[in-house]
Amino acid sequence: MISAQTIVNQLIHQNAPYSPKTEGTAFAPVNIALIKYWGKRNNALNLPVTDSLSIGLRTLGTTTSIRLHQGQDIIYLNNERLPFDHPFAQRTSRYLDLFRRQPNDGFMVMTKNDVPTGAGLASSASGYAALVLALNDLFQWQLDKTQLSILARIGSGSACRSLWDGLVHWHAGQQDDGLDSYATPLVYQLPTLRIGLLTLSNKTKPVSSRIGMQQTVHGLSLYPAWKTMVDTHLTQITQAFEKQDINGIGKISEHNALAMHATMLSASPALCYFLPETLATLQTLWSAREAGLNCWATLDAGPNVKLLFEAETAHDVKKLFPDINIIQPFVS
Ligand code: PMV
Repeated sequence: MISAQTIVNQLIHQNAPYSPKTEGTAFAPVNIALIKYWGKRNNALNLPVTDSLSIGLRTLGTTTSIRLHQGQDIIYLNNERLPFDHPFAQRTSRYLDLFRRQPNDGFMVMTKNDVPTGAGLASSASGYAALVLALNDLFQWQLDKTQLSILARIGSGSACRSLWDGLVHWHAGQQDDGLDSYATPLVYQLPTLRIGLLTLSNKTKPVSSRIGMQQTVHGLSLYPAWKTMVDTHLTQITQAFEKQDINGIGKISEHNALAMHATMLSASPALCYFLPETLATLQTLWSAREAGLNCWATLDAGPNVKLLFEAETAHDVKKLFPDINIIQPFVS
């Protein structure tokens, strides 16, 4: 099995020049998957079973700055210094191990998320993308976006899609080393699309997506059907992009998200990220849709709901869900 360190050495240490600056900084946007990534063919390298497709939230994301320093890593999350044994600090340090020249090389990382951390709002995607971009800035690697996408994917799978705004396609790839598993931006623009974030809970999810995926993929579940469904949804959503058909995009996205949650529910033990508020929100949405509202939902590995709709529907959606945070992912 090829290790993450081997890939990093291949991409960086053997090729790129070493001339660190005092500090590297970067911003990366949150991405919301319309066709979800759920299930890995390789856990160490975060290689997915299927392709996936996302949309960047442009103004919401993670800003990270990083410096070299001697000794143990110092990690700040949202202006708060984390204890060394905090899970976020531990995971960040383990990832940073891949980039140390000497065992005693430490990093000071300051990271700020615009969305709650670990609550199924894709903060780890923007987090690892921002970290890789900040490292690239610090070390002056001058890697291209494909190489950065591969490095971000090793931190958190969906992070490979957070290097771009707009629509992004993550190609699952087939190689064992994962060098063909990275994201690329898509040309389609949807200036009238709006995404609404409904934060129903800020709590960190009880089961990480890493564990959740393993629980769903291994053992008896509906997972085999998921792969076929993703292929169909990818074809259908591409046709909807071509036609700028936001209602079609919403419909396919909702179907895809609920099918992903259905595979989780069909695992043993079952995995359910929904809270009662999640179901109540979906039922409110479905009733409103019966009454003519063109609005669709998508959900990740957490209880929060994201809505997809046309700009002209924003007023009605806001009336239904007054706490909604509406984002315009494409500039008009
Ligand atoms: O990249 P991870 O391990 O945070 O997994 C993300 C999984 C989903 O958010 C549920 C789906 C996706 O494609 O973003």
